[in-house]
Amino acid sequence: EEEVMARMESMRAKAHLGGGMNRIITQHKKGKLTARERIDLLLDPGSFHEYDTFVEHQCTDFGMEKNKIIGDGVVTGHGTINGRRIFVFSQDFTAFGGSLSKMHAQKICKIMDKAVLVGAPVVGLNDSGGARIQEGVDSLAGYADIFQKNVLSSGVVPQISLIMGPCAGKIHCLLKFSKLTTAYPGYDEIKLHFVGGAVYSPALTDFTFMVRDTSYLFVTGPDVVKAVTNEDVTQEELGGAKAHTVKSGVAHNAFENDIEALQRIRDFMDFLPLSNRDQAPIRHTDDPITREDSSLNHIIPIDSTKAYDVRDVIMRLVDDTNFFEIMPDYAKNIVIGFARMGGQTVSIVGNQPLVSSGVLDINSSVKGSRFVRFCDAFNIPIITLVDVPGFLPGTAQEHNGIIRHGAKLLYAYAEATVPKITIILRKAYGGAYDVMSSKHLRGDINYAWPTGEIAVMGAKGAVEIIFRHVEDRTQAEKEYIDKVCNYFFANPIPAAQRGFLDDVILPSTSRKKIIEDLAVLKRKSLPLIYKKHDNMPL
Ligand code: COA
Repeated sequence: EEEVMARMESMRAKAHLGGGMNRIITQHKKGKLTARERIDLLLDPGSFHEYDTFVEHQCTDFGMEKNKIIGDGVVTGHGTINGRRIFVFSQDFTAFGGSLSKMHAQKICKIMDKAVLVGAPVVGLNDSGGARIQEGVDSLAGYADIFQKNVLSSGVVPQISLIMGPCAGKIHCLLKFSKLTTAYPGYDEIKLHFVGGAVYSPALTDFTFMVRDTSYLFVTGPDVVKAVTNEDVTQEELGGAKAHTVKSGVAHNAFENDIEALQRIRDFMDFLPLSNRDQAPIRHTDDPITREDSSLNHIIPIDSTKAYDVRDVIMRLVDDTNFFEIMPDYAKNIVIGFARMGGQTVSIVGNQPLVSSGVLDINSSVKGSRFVRFCDAFNIPIITLVDVPGFLPGTAQEHNGIIRHGAKLLYAYAEATVPKITIILRKAYGGAYDVMSSKHLRGDINYAWPTGEIAVMGAKGAVEIIFRHVEDRTQAEKEYIDKVCNYFFANPIPAAQRGFLDDVILPSTSRKKIIEDLAVLKRKSLPLIYKKHDNMPL
């Protein structure tokens, strides 16, 4: 008995070294921490319980039976973040480049199953050379098993990916594995199967975060791109943090280094419930729930064509100016993120007048809708701050499907059954008024500030259409704007008279009102009609 334990302990010590000291040094030289160091920083000290420490791969091809590393390139288990249970896997780049074998996948699947069973989130720390090339189709099967579990867990427990190294499909097997190809002539065909596997698990999770300069996500690397499209592109340009947080929208944010990233993920997890059966945790705040902020009364510029930063409004409303923005560098015309109000997690969606007047376009619609759906799945109330001049016109938008993509945001708001509180800060024009959590889409509480303008379109546009046959429009327009528009367009009264707004409130009282409403809506319950699943426009 003692002997077995002693052997296990010596194996455990070996497992803790992953691919060995030299490779750990290389990992550190790249500015990256090891898989275990990352887990230590992510979880509360001493809270990690590891599973499957002793698992090894079962591959006997290409001489792999003689090449085993205890743990097989991934560390898995559970622990706590600020006292709340989460499951974690952390790929170990020092062991076979963190590549995914059948057993490596099995370890990940085990913790994914456990997480759903007990209702706890899964955080994946990705650092991997992709499919374990020597294992061929077994490794592809491993990826598919993970994908399937990602999909089954979606909407049940939050799934978060942090990309901390390569996470890629085919990069440059030919160069790197030329030794292997010469020794095993059939290998060349096998390798062609490995395209794009690794990136799709993060893509199926709820949030993907990256580390700047050391992480990459792409379906095929620069060499393959060169061969197929003749484009010269670096790894960083193709799939680095900037590419995915600014251009593609694949990643939700990027952090400077491993330490900052793990710290921020800890903060982030604190906003989320453990599962769809739970509410997000309440975090005590010294920020008074009745705090009024008189600066909000002057935050909207008198000239209604002038811009302001909606984040200045958000910061004044939420607890302790603590706002965790999601996708801050992508589709900046909409601002989304998590905050707390009265200690309770809320999500914020705000049109951003500072960027393209806060217009809704394809990217901002997609950004907003995915976020709204996450919050609805996980019981997080949605606060919507509206200042939107409409949808962006133009052939580029129309031909790329603004109708289809804009419909996603409409759909997401309309199906959401979590508490929905809306404040119209200024413009709410046209279809965009309907979309942005209006009363008509089962908005629970809809307010406007006195600066609210709810109309089919802006006064100037309306006048141009109504008077398009009048030769000298100047006088007619002036009269119209003075007499009619100022009544119908430049204020929220008509909407309030129809009950489309519950009240017109003083901006300074907004925080207090929202927190009171959240308390009222705490027990909101809206029965759902049975359906297999919906068919939202994709
Ligand atoms: N399968 C098996 N082993 C892999 C691997 C994979 N997919 N990816 C990396 N490794 C191994 C390497 O053989 C190397 O082993 P060694 O230390 O015994 O020499 C080790 O992991 C480290 O890889 P290395 O290439 O030295 O690291 P790098 O930082 O220079 O490059 C990558 C990292 C990911 C760019 C590079 O390893 C690579 O191109 N891997 C193959 C990617 C791929 O095509 N994967 C299959 C597609 S799904």
